[in-house]
Amino acid sequence: MTESLTVRDNRTGVEYDIPITDGTIRAADLGKIKAADPATQEDGPGLAVYDPGFVNTASCRSSVTYIDGDKGVLEYRGYPIEQLAEKSSFLEVSYLLVHGELPTKEQYDAWVHEITYHTFVHENIKEFMEGFRYDAHPMGMLMASVGAMSTFYPDAANISDPENRRLQIIRLIAKMPTLGAWAFRHAQGKPYVYPDNDLSYTGNFLSMLFKMSESKYAPDERIEKALDTLFILHADHEQNASANAVRSVGSTQVDPYSSVSAGVGALFGPLHGGANEAVLRMLRRIGKVENIPAFIAGVKDGNERLMGFGHRVYKNYDPRAKIIKQQALNVFEVTGTNPLLEIAMELEKIALEDEYFVSRKLYPNVDFYSGLIYEALEFPPEMFTVLFAIGRTPGWLSQWLELVQDKEQKIARPKQIYTGERGLDFVPRDVRWA
Ligand code: ACO
Repeated sequence: MTESLTVRDNRTGVEYDIPITDGTIRAADLGKIKAADPATQEDGPGLAVYDPGFVNTASCRSSVTYIDGDKGVLEYRGYPIEQLAEKSSFLEVSYLLVHGELPTKEQYDAWVHEITYHTFVHENIKEFMEGFRYDAHPMGMLMASVGAMSTFYPDAANISDPENRRLQIIRLIAKMPTLGAWAFRHAQGKPYVYPDNDLSYTGNFLSMLFKMSESKYAPDERIEKALDTLFILHADHEQNASANAVRSVGSTQVDPYSSVSAGVGALFGPLHGGANEAVLRMLRRIGKVENIPAFIAGVKDGNERLMGFGHRVYKNYDPRAKIIKQQALNVFEVTGTNPLLEIAMELEKIALEDEYFVSRKLYPNVDFYSGLIYEALEFPPEMFTVLFAIGRTPGWLSQWLELVQDKEQKIARPKQIYTGERGLDFVPRDVRWA
């Protein structure tokens, strides 16, 4: 089989052979296809691809995360998400994502030690966080404080030095929970809690969130495990909108704090990080199991969507949703059940048997149950995306690391199809307004 595409340009009658590699053609090869401008008879620009939202454009080669949406497969560095969620820890998964392979015992211990001892942030960061308005959205606070960290670590600009990159990666993974927890405490008017380095990564995060007057906070192991698993499930998802934002900003060779703050900004958007909150609103509106048939009928009539169902990539059960459902049950053992759970489970049961959802391949996605867990843990909805951002940080950094070492990458600078005026004569204001 010849791995090429033969294209005939009907404007000129010329045929081109374009190589196919890894199921893709190079956009630059299309640029060689040129036709004369009928007005000037001069060669026009080469053929380009118009792809708003990059729906069918590969922007990079990546060995971080593999997804098969039809089969419902998600793997980090080749390891299935189900195995990682059950048997690994968030810090081990972070090591795997960043380094490409699982750590030895010595490597793991050193990694955990370094991350644990970088959890503190400069006192000035605390002071400027305290300066935010009392009702500041915690994602806005997180985005600003991550970006501001570049001013505390100007050495981070030296992105060509591997040791320097490693240090900034450790700092970012270590400090995100501190910033996220302080953004949470700020909205509640509670004093910020300093890290407790005797606790695990997730246990320390819970302590910074919920510790009050006790001398030492003791996290419930089941809650610690559930949150750690949620971080694992959110750790990477290949070229999603926020990873693309990190890569796009990173392609200018700016420091990783600036790139990651762009990722936080992208995640803040309701099309990316906000669907789990919409699920909660929907479940509350349905109110009781008896109301589900009428709700489903409304969805099938096209009046609204069943939130937490369907995915651009997964046309099968989102593998993360299965794991989250189990974790939700574990959390409810500690917190007492959320009455919305019964409605969610019944909705899922009905939808999975209904022809409308089956024929459109609509299955629960990662957001269907995650909001229920977060609510049970007493997080306000504004914090849901902050939790997502903490989990996604090693993924963003792995994508960034891959980018800065990839010789094929260039500054991200798309083309446009210009639709505006040309060659107008500027008329000065005194003449225009006379
Ligand atoms: N409820 C009811 N019908 C749906 C749903 C849904 N949740 N999702 C898709 N459909 C229907 C569409 O109406 C359409 O039907 P039609 O062919 O009769 O017109 C068909 O399924 C295909 O839908 P599209 O919108 O083309 O699918 P797309 O891949 O563009 O959308 C999306 C994916 C945005 C996630 C969509 O399924 C949706 O809106 N789901 C609800 C919101 C949600 O849960 N988002 C979180 C996604 S996970 C994440 O981002 C972390």
